[in-house]
Amino acid sequence: MLAIIGGSGLTRFTRLEEAERRQVTTPYGNPSAALTFGLLSGRPLVFLARHGDEHTIPPHQVNYRANIWALRECVPTGIVAVAAVGSIRSDLSPGDLVIPHQIIDYTWARSSTFHEGPHSAVTHVDFTEPYDHVLRRQLVDAAAAIGARVSEAAVYAATQGPRLETAAEINRLERDGADVVGMTGMPEAVLARELAIPYAAINVVANYAAGRGDSREAIRMEAILSVLEGAMQQVFAIIERMLTSHD
Ligand code: HPA
Repeated sequence: MLAIIGGSGLTRFTRLEEAERRQVTTPYGNPSAALTFGLLSGRPLVFLARHGDEHTIPPHQVNYRANIWALRECVPTGIVAVAAVGSIRSDLSPGDLVIPHQIIDYTWARSSTFHEGPHSAVTHVDFTEPYDHVLRRQLVDAAAAIGARVSEAAVYAATQGPRLETAAEINRLERDGADVVGMTGMPEAVLARELAIPYAAINVVANYAAGRGDSREAIRMEAILSVLEGAMQQVFAIIERMLTSHD
């Protein structure tokens, strides 16, 4: 069964049929919301709202460990993370979809490993390729099959938030090699890796990053929300299609 973590613009997976919600708890506390189990075109899926049902948990306060642990209990075949991003690369515009292939992590003070505590051996998990190759390919192929344009290579910069970046910070991220910027990709991706759950992301470009395009002077949140609403329809369609090739 595939698991979906929904971000801003995707707090409810309204298309799920026969949906059933299950409140779960973990050794790391409660996940952001109840898990929703349901069918999409007859195929099972579990959904979790990263920021909570009412979109009240900011990126730096998401209990990433509880979220990933709770999903693991469902024995998922993979996790697809849906998340909004700002675009740094000039050819990425609001509304575009990106399937990132690399991560640079700028977050701090987030619980970012399961391997800690008095009885836990020091563990350095391999993270050379942070996203699962097969899951990424399934997303790219599903997008192609429904005629959705996606950028299939992008470096994702994870910033701490919840504030947006300064223009100078975005220039620095670009010099570092980042193409898009978001606040939730880490430690989510590495926690999934630690538990050996295949993980891939689909990013919706919500806005030009600070100092770029029409965000030259400021970023307008209302514009972000309306972009997300439209683009999410494509995300639903890609996931639906992907399920046909995912066991
Ligand atoms: N920066 C960081 N995270 C984001 C942005 C942004 O510009 N847009 C959506 N998530």
